[in-house]
Amino acid sequence: MERAFVRRDVVRGLATVAVAAATACRAGAARRTVPSFGAAVRQTAFDDGPLSSLIATTCATVTPELELKWAAVERQHGTFTFSGADRIAAFAKSHAMAMRGHTLVWHGSIPDWAEPLLVPGADWSLVGRYMEAAIRRFDGHVRRWDVVNEPIAPEDGFDGRRVSPFYAAWGSNYVFRALEHARAATLRGRLFIGEYGLEYANPLQAARRDALLALVREARRAKVPLDGIGLQTHLDLRTGPFDPQVYRDFLQALADEGLALCITELDVKERDYPQPIERRDQLVADHAARVLDVALAQPALEEVTCWGLSDRQSWLRVEPRDYASFPNYWQDGSSPGLNRGLPFSADLQPKPLWHVLESRISQHGKDI
Ligand code: G3I
Repeated sequence: MERAFVRRDVVRGLATVAVAAATACRAGAARRTVPSFGAAVRQTAFDDGPLSSLIATTCATVTPELELKWAAVERQHGTFTFSGADRIAAFAKSHAMAMRGHTLVWHGSIPDWAEPLLVPGADWSLVGRYMEAAIRRFDGHVRRWDVVNEPIAPEDGFDGRRVSPFYAAWGSNYVFRALEHARAATLRGRLFIGEYGLEYANPLQAARRDALLALVREARRAKVPLDGIGLQTHLDLRTGPFDPQVYRDFLQALADEGLALCITELDVKERDYPQPIERRDQLVADHAARVLDVALAQPALEEVTCWGLSDRQSWLRVEPRDYASFPNYWQDGSSPGLNRGLPFSADLQPKPLWHVLESRISQHGKDI
C-alpha cells in the first residue's frame, strides 16, 4: 500500500499534509498502480492549501468536475474558455498525475445558446467544434475521454436510449458519431461512454444494464471506436438490492467485448442520517466495499475515481426528501450535517471509506 497511497500518518494532520505536498512529485511517481486512484476536483480546490495538498498526495488521476464540460467551455457561441481546465491540467502535470477528459457530449451540460439550436437536422459542428477544441488542447496529457455521458434511459420508451437534445437532433446515431469525431481528433486518447445506475439488481437497473450492453454490441458490430465504459458508481443506501453475482456478470459481459472499465464517479448517498456519525461512516464504507470487492476482482478495471475527495467539496446534499423521511428529527434546529459519502471528511480526516479504498486497491492493484 505504501506505493499506491500516501502513508496514513501523512494524511492525518494538515501540517504533515503540507510536508507531503512538497514531495508530491515523488509521491506521484510512486503511485503508479493499476487500477489507479483518483478524484473529481474543482479548480477552486487549489485555492485551499490543505485540500490541494491532500489531492496531490492521494490521487494519481484527477477529473475536472465542471471545467471541461460544454456549458463551462463555450458559454458564448464560438468562444472557447479553457482557463479552469487549464488550471487543473497544470496542477495534474506538476504532480505527475493523469487527467481524465470529462465530459464532452452530455445532456446535463449544454450551453444555453445551444439548446434551441439542437433541432432535427442541426449541423454537427455545433457540438463538434467544442469537442475538437477540448480534445486537441489536452491531447497527450488526457489519455481517457468520457466522450458520451449517460446515453441510456429505458424509461424514455424507445430503444433504451435517452431522448436527449442530442438524440432529438441526430437520432441515436449521435453516440457513434461523437465517438468517431473524437477518434478523428485524437489517435492516442482512449474513448469512453459514461453511465450511471448499473449496480443494483432491481428491474430498472437491469433494463439499464441491458440497454448499455445492446449499445456496446451495436458499436462493436459497426466498428465504432469505443475503448471503454466509465462506470459512474453513484451508490445509494436508499436503493438496492446489490447482488454481487449480477454485477460480476455484467462487468464480465463488458470485458468480454474487449472494453476497459473505469469507476469514474464513486460516492455513496446516505440514508440513515439520525445514526451517530461513526455508524453512518461505517454504513457508507461497508456498502462501497461490497461493490468494490466485485469490481476490483475484474481484471479489465483500470481506475477508481471518487466524485470528490472530501465532503468539503461535494455535490452530494442532504435533500428535503431525506429530512422528510425522518419527520421526528432535527426539530430543535439541529441538522444531520453534510452527506458523508466521500473518503475524507470536511476537515480532511480519512473516513472508513478511505480505508476501504486503500485496502481493496492495495489487495487487487498491481504496480506498473
Ligand atoms: O459555483 C456556482 C456558485 O457560484 C453558484 O452560486 C451556484 C448557484 O447554483 O452554482 C455553482 O455552480 C454549480 C456547480 O455544480 C458547483 O456547485 C452549478 O450551478 C451546477 O450546475 C454544478 O453541478 C454539477 C453538475 O455535474 C453539472 O455540471 C455538479 O457539481 C457535478 O458534480 C455534476 O457532476 C455530474 C457528472 O458530471 C456526470 N454524472 C453525474 C454527476 C452528478 O450530477
